[in-house]
Amino acid sequence: MDGMADIEYIDDLAQIRPDDLEGLCAGWRKPLSGAGLLKVLQGSDRVWLARDRLAVVGFINAISDGCLMAFVPLLEVRASHHGLRIGSTLVRKMMHTYRDFYGIDLLCDPSLCPFYERFGMSRVAGMVYRNRDAAMLVFRSEDSAR
Ligand SMILES: CC(C)(COP(=O)(O)OP(=O)(O)OC[C@H]1O[C@@H](n2cnc3c(N)ncnc32)[C@H](O)[C@@H]1OP(=O)(O)O)[C@@H](O)C(=O)NCCC(=O)NCCS
Repeated sequence: MDGMADIEYIDDLAQIRPDDLEGLCAGWRKPLSGAGLLKVLQGSDRVWLARDRLAVVGFINAISDGCLMAFVPLLEVRASHHGLRIGSTLVRKMMHTYRDFYGIDLLCDPSLCPFYERFGMSRVAGMVYRNRDAAMLVFRSEDSAR
């Protein structure tokens, strides 16, 4: 599939509805609903989306202090659109926006480190805290009771 020519990149949510985002986090143990994901993206400082004629096919979001650091919570491309450079394009757009900042941080599984190293990122140790009972409203309703 030559999908690249059909992909449009946008950086606002004005035309985005919950249905456009449904199924984007399909690989998650507890997937976000479309409405939940829209809430997450609306609360982010910046968001970049890739869409074709039918749907949003990928996105990346960022949270930042506006001058020193930016953090990237999420990057997702629909499985049907993997390998079309959509993920790389989203990362590059994000990194270009923060090119004058000191740092851009994100967490990923070890298997994804080679993907991010392509953009000059380095492996570091990190710490996280997770409240497994929190933010249940953003998950799909059929999963939130688990
Ligand atoms: C990781 C992800 C965003 C990559 O998006 P994508 O659009 O399929 O990737 P691209 O087409 O831009 O890939 C560019 C290159 O990176 C490589 N790559 C893609 N995913 C990779 C991975 N998981 N590990 C190592 N390399 C990877 C590709 O093989 C390609 O290599 P090539 O230039 O030699 O052909 C996508 O696979 C995805 O959404 N995965 C599920 C969610 C996820 O893991 N998100 C990241 C959370 S931190």
